[in-house]
Amino acid sequence: MTPSSPTPAATPPAAAVDLSIDLAGLKLANPMMTASGTCGYGYEYADFTDLSRLGAFVTKSITAEARKGNEAYRIVETRGGMLNAIGLANVGLDAFLADKLPQLRKLRATGPRVIVNVAGHSTDDYVKTCARVAAEPDVDAIELNVSCPNVKDGLTFGTDPRLLRELCREVRTAMAKNVRLIVKLSPNVGDIVLTARAAVEGGADVLSMINTYTAMTIDIHKRRPRLANGTGGLSGPAIRPLAVYLLHRVYRHVAREAKVPIIGMGGIQYWQDAAEFLLAGASGLAVGTALFVDPATPVKITEGLAAYLQKQGCKSLREIVGTLALHGEPPVTPYP
Ligand SMILES: Cc1cc2nc3c(=O)[nH]c(=O)nc-3n(C[C@H](O)[C@H](O)[C@H](O)COP(=O)(O)O)c2cc1C
Repeated sequence: MTPSSPTPAATPPAAAVDLSIDLAGLKLANPMMTASGTCGYGYEYADFTDLSRLGAFVTKSITAEARKGNEAYRIVETRGGMLNAIGLANVGLDAFLADKLPQLRKLRATGPRVIVNVAGHSTDDYVKTCARVAAEPDVDAIELNVSCPNVKDGLTFGTDPRLLRELCREVRTAMAKNVRLIVKLSPNVGDIVLTARAAVEGGADVLSMINTYTAMTIDIHKRRPRLANGTGGLSGPAIRPLAVYLLHRVYRHVAREAKVPIIGMGGIQYWQDAAEFLLAGASGLAVGTALFVDPATPVKITEGLAAYLQKQGCKSLREIVGTLALHGEPPVTPYP
C-alpha cells in the first residue's frame, strides 16, 4: 500500500475496544496466551515475535526432576494437525527456577502475565512442585497438566473425577493464595462435565481446555506407528470443532454458574477461530500448533478480534463471552 492510500473506512481503529480479561481476579491486557509446550520457556521465540504483546505466557510442563522425554520421532505432521509424544521433556524444577524464570521475569516486566504449567506422577509430586513455584513472586498462576498417569494406580489424574478433585484440593491448599490455580482438562474422557465439576469442587480458580486427543498414525511401509511412543496427542485445526463443542458444554453445565473463567484452546489459528471460542464461553485463548506455522499468530488474532468486536458493536471483549444462542433460544444480547 502506498502512503497516500486511504485507510479503509470499514475498519475503525481497533484500540477503541477494551480487550482486557479477568481470570479470577488476575487481569490480562488481552486474552492471547501461548499453549503449554509449544513455545518453550519464552526466550526461544523472542527473535520471531513480540512476546510483550501477549496477555500471558504459559511455559511448557515443569516436573520435579529433569526429564529427557521420549525417543524420536516425537512429533509428526498429520492432515490438519500434529501428533506429539514429547514425554514431558523439561529441565526440572531446580533448573527452571534458577535459569528460566529469570528470563520470564524480564518478559513479565514488559506486560504479559507468567503462567507456569506443572506436571507430576503422584499427588505428592504435584503438591511439592506447585508449592515451590507458587512461592515465586513472578508467577501469576499455575496451570496443572493433569494428563499424566499416577504411579500409584496407573490412572490418569485428569480422567478420574475423584482423583482429580483430591489432587486439586491438595494442590490448592499447598499454594500461595494470591497465585491462581488453572486446571487443564483432558478431552480423553467419557463426559468432560464430570471432570470439570471435580476440578471446580477441588478449588480450581480457572479451567483451561483442551489438552490433546490421544491418537495414532501409522507408517504403512514399515508397518509401525510413526511415533516412537506408538501413540501421541493430536492438536491443531483438526481438533478445533471438538474443542469448541467441549468448551461450550463445560461453560453451560459448570463454569457459567460457578463463575469460573475458561481458557480455550485447540486448533486456534485465525481470529475467526478465536471468536468461536469466545462465543462458546472462553474468556482467555491459547495458541499452540499454529505457532509452528507463524509465531506471530497471537498478535494477528488480537488485531483481528479487536476489529470484529467493534463491528459487533462491543465496547469490551468481555461482552461477547458465552453469548452463543442455540437454535430455538432467544439471542443472549441484541445483535447489531
Ligand atoms: C508439541 C506440543 C507439546 C505440548 N506440550 C504440552 C505440555 O508440556 N503440557 C501441556 O499441558 N500441554 C502440552 N501440549 C498441549 C497444548 O498446550 C494444547 O493443549 C494443545 O496442543 C491444543 O492446542 P493447539 O491445537 O492450539 O495446539 C503440547 C502440544 C504440542 C503440539
